Amino acid sequence: MDITSPEYAAELDWQDELAGFRDRFVVDDPGLIYVDGNSLGRMPKVAFEKLSEAAQAEWAGGLVRGWNEWIHVPTRLGAKIARIIGAQEDEVIVCDSTSVNLFKLMMAALDHQKGRSEIITDDLNFPSDLYVMQGCARLREPAARITVVPSKDQIHADVEAIADAIGSQTALTSITHVAFKSGYMHDMKWLTSLAHASGALALWDLSHSVGAVPLNLKEANADLAVGCTYKYLNGGPGAPAFIYVRRDLQEKLLSPIWGWFGERKPFDFRLQYEPARGLNRFFAGTPPILSMVAIETGVDLILEAGMDRLRKKSLAQTEYLIQLYDSLLAPLGVALKTPRDGSVRGSHVSFGHPDGLRIDRVLIEQMNVIPDFRAPDNIRFGATSLYTTFGELREGVLRMAKVIQDKTYEQFGIEELAVT
Ligand SMILES: Cc1ncc(COP(=O)(O)O)c(C=O)c1O
Repeated sequence: MDITSPEYAAELDWQDELAGFRDRFVVDDPGLIYVDGNSLGRMPKVAFEKLSEAAQAEWAGGLVRGWNEWIHVPTRLGAKIARIIGAQEDEVIVCDSTSVNLFKLMMAALDHQKGRSEIITDDLNFPSDLYVMQGCARLREPAARITVVPSKDQIHADVEAIADAIGSQTALTSITHVAFKSGYMHDMKWLTSLAHASGALALWDLSHSVGAVPLNLKEANADLAVGCTYKYLNGGPGAPAFIYVRRDLQEKLLSPIWGWFGERKPFDFRLQYEPARGLNRFFAGTPPILSMVAIETGVDLILEAGMDRLRKKSLAQTEYLIQLYDSLLAPLGVALKTPRDGSVRGSHVSFGHPDGLRIDRVLIEQMNVIPDFRAPDNIRFGATSLYTTFGELREGVLRMAKVIQDKTYEQFGIEELAVT
């Protein structure tokens, strides 16, 4: 059967055992092709209910009395996320942004790794990770050295070069597990074991992995990790991130931010800081409770669907995107910027075109398709398999091909947008 036909996509949707989950999300405009759940996930319907319940009963009604319950929310939610990433329930908490959590863990690791002063990363990493790393490096005395291992094709990481770069001076490897542009997925267990063999700690950014690909931090023996909740976990705009520290390391590391929520007895209001036991020392200030109510609804849906089923569908969807690319986009000169090998691919596919930004704008403003654009030329299509349909992927690629064929993007300027 012709893979570009509507019947083919309809058949794939018919066979989809997770299809029912789409109804659990708000889909206001059925004509909208939303392939940007890898940036901001759709809203779970139950989030409306839970948020208004929490606002009315707990905030408006309970007022400050709510804190006796709310105080436990970041650890309770962390325990649920732990199940998704293959960690133990006391190894994950929800707090702050991914960037702030990276800062806390990088500083803690550098402090712990006395006598070692190098951080190894790669150039597929997210810029914020690198910025935070640069900020941490200059806070050390003498400054820590950062080695950024380049990718040869900007699609696959050069893992051999990363392996070679890790040495006796390496304090920390800090790598994003699924790369935000190309979707390349690292071998967490292998790289972690290499870091350990050299006496380094391994920190993983799971922002494009959690809820997208199965993770097993315990099996990988990962030391440290952070991740977003507003992408595949569907936790809502600006929802706080999570932080993971392996149990045996928790008492050995100190957060660089000595806030009262990370203090042993915050409500004793003592004037001298003493770190809380365990992972709680990585809290800083008051947690955003309403955001956490929303995150929990997204996390519950992922747990219900199960990561194995989600991965199976996600792989089928990214494979289908690549087949559609071969038939419809490659003949128009579009490049594939994502690995063809599913075993090293996350849940999004990037298409490269020199006019990518303008094509992205036409898709959003005229064609009712929402992908996103990542400079210099990547148009990303995310498969958020709880709600993305095969029909949507087909329609999104068809509309993109039409924009390129008709050159409608030539009417658009390339003035800078605040958010792409
Ligand atoms: C891989 C990765 N790391 C870090 C961040 C930054 O997250 P935050 O803005 O929550 O600090 C992002 C944001 O998209 C990301 O994709």
